[in-house]
Amino acid sequence: MKILVLHGPNLNLLGTREPGIYGNITLADLNADISALAKELGIEVAIFQSNSEGELVDKIQGALTTVDGILINPAAYTHTSVALRDAIAAVALPTVEVHLSNIHSREEFRSTSFIAPVALGQISGLGPDSYLLGLRALFSHTKKNRQ
Ligand code: DQA
Repeated sequence: MKILVLHGPNLNLLGTREPGIYGNITLADLNADISALAKELGIEVAIFQSNSEGELVDKIQGALTTVDGILINPAAYTHTSVALRDAIAAVALPTVEVHLSNIHSREEFRSTSFIAPVALGQISGLGPDSYLLGLRALFSHTKKNRQ
């Protein structure tokens, strides 16, 4: 089983970026936690961060024949990107949307997600656990669908 993990814009700054909201964990540490859980579950992960919408679209398109599911924190593109939503709808791979912060308890514009309607589910507000729970959800969903 292979899962593509995508981090959107500004998540490369984790650790120093608004720590009161996003915590002190760096992207490298978060990726290490994701990789450790993947190993435990026997999943292969490909992890990619980009500040560019087009690069994220390219990664999603490229995932079509190569992965079983997508775990994505679209970051600010959550609230703006028809292109990311259309790419996810186009590949029709099970996709879990995750957020470190609770997007529903912040500014009003953050409670709108262009991604949620094409995602299997959304996990928001649990810090790094949002990613780990999302990975577990993709794992059990994919396993169930293979039986
Ligand atoms: C975020 C929430 C978004 O609103 C914000 O633009 C981000 C990070 C989160 O993980 O909490 O960059 O996706």
